Amino acid sequence: MGSFETRTKDGMARIGEFSSDHGTVTTPLLMPVVHPAKTAVTPQQLKDDFGFQMVITNSYIIRSHESFREKAVSDGVHGLIGFDGPVMTDSGTFQMYFHGLPEIEIDPLEIVDFQKKIQSDIGTILDVFSAPNVGREQVHSDVETSLQRAKISAPEKGNMMLAGTIQGGIYPDLREYSAKEMAKLDFDIHPVGGVVPLMESYRYAEIMDILYAVKRHLPPNRPVHLFGCGHPMFFAQAAMMGCDFFDSASYAKFAEAGRMMLPKGTVHLESLRELPCSCPVCSEYSAKELKSMPKQETSLQLMKHNLYISGAEIRRVRQAISDGTLMELVARRARGHPTLYDALMRMLNGYEEFYRWDNRSTSGAILYSGNETTKYPAIESFSRQMISTYRGLSTEQLVIFPHHGDRPFADAACDVADVVASTPPEENLLVFLTPIGAVPWELEHVHPVQQCIFPRHLDRDTLHTATSRLEEFLASITAKRIRWLTRKTPVNSILTTTKKDYEMDIIENQEELIQLLGTGGSFNWSRRKLQFLFKYQWQIDAAEFLEQNEVEIELSRSTGKIRHIRRNGEILFTLVPTTGLLTPTYEGGVELAKMGLKEKYMVVMTQEASEFVAEGKSALAKFVKQVDPKLHAAEEVLVLDEEETLIATGRTLLSGFEMIAFNRGVAVTIRHSISQ
Ligand code: GUN
Ligand code: ZN
Repeated sequence: MGSFETRTKDGMARIGEFSSDHGTVTTPLLMPVVHPAKTAVTPQQLKDDFGFQMVITNSYIIRSHESFREKAVSDGVHGLIGFDGPVMTDSGTFQMYFHGLPEIEIDPLEIVDFQKKIQSDIGTILDVFSAPNVGREQVHSDVETSLQRAKISAPEKGNMMLAGTIQGGIYPDLREYSAKEMAKLDFDIHPVGGVVPLMESYRYAEIMDILYAVKRHLPPNRPVHLFGCGHPMFFAQAAMMGCDFFDSASYAKFAEAGRMMLPKGTVHLESLRELPCSCPVCSEYSAKELKSMPKQETSLQLMKHNLYISGAEIRRVRQAISDGTLMELVARRARGHPTLYDALMRMLNGYEEFYRWDNRSTSGAILYSGNETTKYPAIESFSRQMISTYRGLSTEQLVIFPHHGDRPFADAACDVADVVASTPPEENLLVFLTPIGAVPWELEHVHPVQQCIFPRHLDRDTLHTATSRLEEFLASITAKRIRWLTRKTPVNSILTTTKKDYEMDIIENQEELIQLLGTGGSFNWSRRKLQFLFKYQWQIDAAEFLEQNEVEIELSRSTGKIRHIRRNGEILFTLVPTTGLLTPTYEGGVELAKMGLKEKYMVVMTQEASEFVAEGKSALAKFVKQVDPKLHAAEEVLVLDEEETLIATGRTLLSGFEMIAFNRGVAVTIRHSISQ
C-alpha cells in the first residue's frame, strides 16, 4: 500500500512524496506509457537514462495477449516490463473508447482483480470515457456507470492502490457530482479522465473549469492524475491547478508522426533547418541528419528527444514550486500558445477557489509578463486584505502619490511620508498608487508591493485593474480631502478616471504638497506602521500593546527599518524583510493571545503530540486535533495543546482543510516553543 504527503506548496500545486511498495517518488511526476511489446526505449532505460521514476502500462493489453498475460501472472507486471520502480496500470477504458469496443467486453471486477494479480502498484477502475462531444444525458448515465463500478471495485482492491477516475465530460456539475461521490469511496488517487480529446484540440481553458470542479470536492490528501496529459507545454499550468501525476504516450506517438515536442508547443522535424533544442539527441545530430535516417531510427531519436524535453519540463515545474515561482513559469508558457493564455486567464478568474489552497505569504519577485500579472492571486489577495484592513477608517486628508513601484520604494516620497507618518492616521493618510493598485504607506514593505517589477509601458488591463483597486479603496474609507500629487509616472494617467468619481485637489509638485501638509506632529511612525501591520496580518488591534512603556521597537542600524519588537530586551516579534510580515517568538505568541487573536490562527494538537511540539518538533498533520479549515498555508499561528495552553508558535505548511485531511507530513513548522 502507499501514502502521499505534501512537502511544499505554490498555488494549488504541491511537491509531494508518494510511496509504494516499489519505492518513493516525488510529484508532480510524469509516467511514460509503456507498451509491453514496443520497447524501442525500455522501461529500465526510461529510469536510468532519462530519470523517470515511475511508468504506466495497460493491463487490458497485457490481459488480451496470452504471452504477456502468462508472464505477468507469473513474474508480476514489474517482471513483464522489466522495471523495478512503481508501476501504475490502466484498465482498458481508453481502448474501449478508442476502438469502440462494446461495454460488455470486459468485466469491471475482473479487470481490477487482474491488476491485483499482476501486482500493479496502482490499478485503475474500468471507468467509462465520456468524450467532449457527447450529450449531457449520455454523460450523466456514463458517470453513473463509472460510479457503480467504482463502488464495487473499491472494496476489492486488497493491498493494491486503486485509482478512481473522475469523468463528467465538459459539464462542470457532472464533474462535481462525480468527484463528490468518488471522494466517498476508498481510493488512493484520482485520475481526471476524458480530457485527451480536449488536449488534442487545445481546449485548455475548459480543462481549467473541469479541474476547479474536481479539486473543489476531492480529498486534498489524494493525488490527482491528469489522464493522458503528456505534452510538456501544459505541465506547468496543470500542476498549478493541483495535478500531481501525468502520463505520456505522446512522446512515442508524436515521434512516429515526425513531431518534436518543445516546452512551448510542437514542431515538425520536416519543417526544421535547425534543431531548437540542447538535448543529447539534438546536440549529436543535425536536422538534416535526423531527416535522412531510416524512418524507424528517426522515430527512435525523436522519441528520445521528446522524453528529454518532457523530463526537463517536469523538473522545471518541481523547481518552480519549491521556489514559489510556478506562476511565472505558467505565464511564460501561456505566451507560447494563445490557448494556454486563455487557460491561464480562466484559472485567474477562479481566484476564490484558487486562493483557498494558496500560501498566505510568499517572498519572491513577481516579474511582469503581461496583463495577467496584476491578477496573480498574490497581488489580488494583498489588495483585498489591505482594503479590509483600512475599511471604515476616517481621515482628514488623504494623499495619493502615484509611484511606479520601483525600489527603493519610499525614497521618492521621503519628505511627504515623514510628515504624514508623524501624525495619526485620522489626520493624514498616504497612499502610493502603483501598477498593483493602492498601497498605503504603512504596508509599503509587505510582499508583493516592492517585489513586483512592472515595465514603464503599462497595458490597459493593468491600468484598469489598478484604477478599480484604487476606487475600491477610496470607497472603503472616508476622507474629508483628497490630494493627488501629479507625478511623471505611468499610473498618473489613472487620474483622468478617478477625478470623475472623486473630488480632489490636484497638486503639481511635491514642495507645494509639503507646504500644505505642514510640519507634521510627534506621532510615533513605527508604532503607527506596526498597528496596521498587526491588523493586516492577524486582524487584531495592537494599539494598547504597542503603547506599553516596556515595549520597544528596534530599528535596523543599516536600513532604518523595523526589525524587532522587544519587551525589557526580550524579542517578542521579528519583522521579516522578505515578506514584510511579523513572526512571533513564544512570548510574542502569548501577547497575541492576550490581544484576542482569532481562533482561526490557532492549531490545537492532540495530547500525545503536544509533548513533542512543546520541545520544538514539527506539528504533524496526523495529530492536529482542531483547526479552522479556512486557515491558509504560510500563516504565522499559535499551536495549543488540548487544554488550550500555548505550546509553540510556527508557520503553517498546509491550509487548515488540508491539515484535517492529511494523515502524514508536517502541518506547522515550529519556530519557537514553550521549552526553547
Ligand atoms: N487514458 C486516457 N484517458 C483516460 C480515461 O479517461 N480513463 C482511463 N481509465 N484511462 C484513460
Ligand atoms: Zn532535443
